Amino acid sequence: MSLALNRENYVWHKLHSLSGIIPVGFYMLQHLTLNSFTIAGPEKFNGVIQFFESLPKHLLLVLEIVAIWIPLLFHAVYGLFIVNRGQSNYFEGKYKWSQNRMYTIQRWSGLFLFLFLAFHIATTTVAKYIGGSATIIEYAAWQEKLTSYGYALFFVYLLGVLAASYHLSYGVWNFCIRWGITISDKAQLRIQKFSFGMFIAVTLLGWSVLVGFLIHKPVVGAENTPAMTRIVELGLPFA
Ligand code: HEM
Ligand code: HEM
Repeated sequence: MSLALNRENYVWHKLHSLSGIIPVGFYMLQHLTLNSFTIAGPEKFNGVIQFFESLPKHLLLVLEIVAIWIPLLFHAVYGLFIVNRGQSNYFEGKYKWSQNRMYTIQRWSGLFLFLFLAFHIATTTVAKYIGGSATIIEYAAWQEKLTSYGYALFFVYLLGVLAASYHLSYGVWNFCIRWGITISDKAQLRIQKFSFGMFIAVTLLGWSVLVGFLIHKPVVGAENTPAMTRIVELGLPFA
C-alpha cells in the first residue's frame, strides 16, 4: 500500500513538474511575447486580441480549456498541496543554504502566483465571457486600470511578472535536475547560468508589456469608451 502510494505520488509529482514547463511555462512565454506588442502601440496590441477573438468561438474555448485551464488548475492545486506539505532541506552539500532558500522562494512565489492569477484571469478572460465583449481586455481598458488608484495595479502586475518569471526560471533549473537532464557539475552550472539569464530576460519582457501601456496616447476613436472617458476625466499625462 505504502509502495503504491509512493509510486502514485511520484507520478503525480512528475506530471506536476512537466505541466509547469509544458504547457503552462510555454503559454506564459508566448503570452508575454504577444502582449509586448503594447510597445508597438495600441493598434498592434488590439490586433492580437482581435486575432484570438476572430477564431471560431467553440475552437477558442476548447483550446483554452485543454491547453490552459486544465493544466494550470492541476499545476496550481497540486502545487498548493506541495507548499502545504512544506518539505524543505532538499539540497545537500556546499551550496545547500542558498539553494534551499531559492527553493523556498519558488514555493512562496507559487502561492503568490495563485492569488495573482486568480485575480488576473477573473478580471480578463472571465470578465470578457461574462460581459460578452472584448473591450474590457483591450488597450484602453488596460491603460485605465493600470494608471488608476495611484498606479496600485501597475505595481501588483510588476510583482506578478517578477514572481512568474522567478518561478518559471528557477523551475527550469529544478526540472533539469529532476528529469536527469543535467547530471554532471559542469552541466548543472551551465543550466544555473541559463536560468539566471532567463529570469532577467523574462522579467524585462513582462515589464516591457507594462511600460507599453504608459508610453502611448489613447487609441484614436476610443474616446467614447467608458475606459477612455475616465482617463480624460482624470487628466492623465497621455490624455
Ligand atoms: C504583463 C502583463 C499581462 C498582460 C497585459 C496580460 C494580458 C492578458 C489578457 C488580455 C488576457 C485575456 C485573454 C483572452 O481572454 O483572450 C489574459 C489572460 C490570461 N493571462 Fe495574462 N497578462 C499579463 C500577465 C500574465 C502573467 C504573468 C501570466 C502568468 C502565467 C498570465 C496568464 C494568463 C492566463 C492563464 C490567462 C487566461 C487565458 C485564457 O483563458 O485565454 N498573464 N492576460
Ligand atoms: C498558479 C499557481 C502556482 C502554484 C501554486 C505553483 C506551485 C509550484 C510548486 C510548489 C512547485 C515546486 C514543486 C516541487 O517542489 O517539486 C512548482 C514548480 C514549478 N512550477 Fe509552479 N505553481 C504555480 C504556477 C506556475 C506557473 C504560472 C508556471 C509557469 C509559468 C509554473 C511553472 C513551474 C515549473 C516550471 C516548476 C518546476 C517543476 C520542477 O520542479 O520540476 N508554475 N510550482
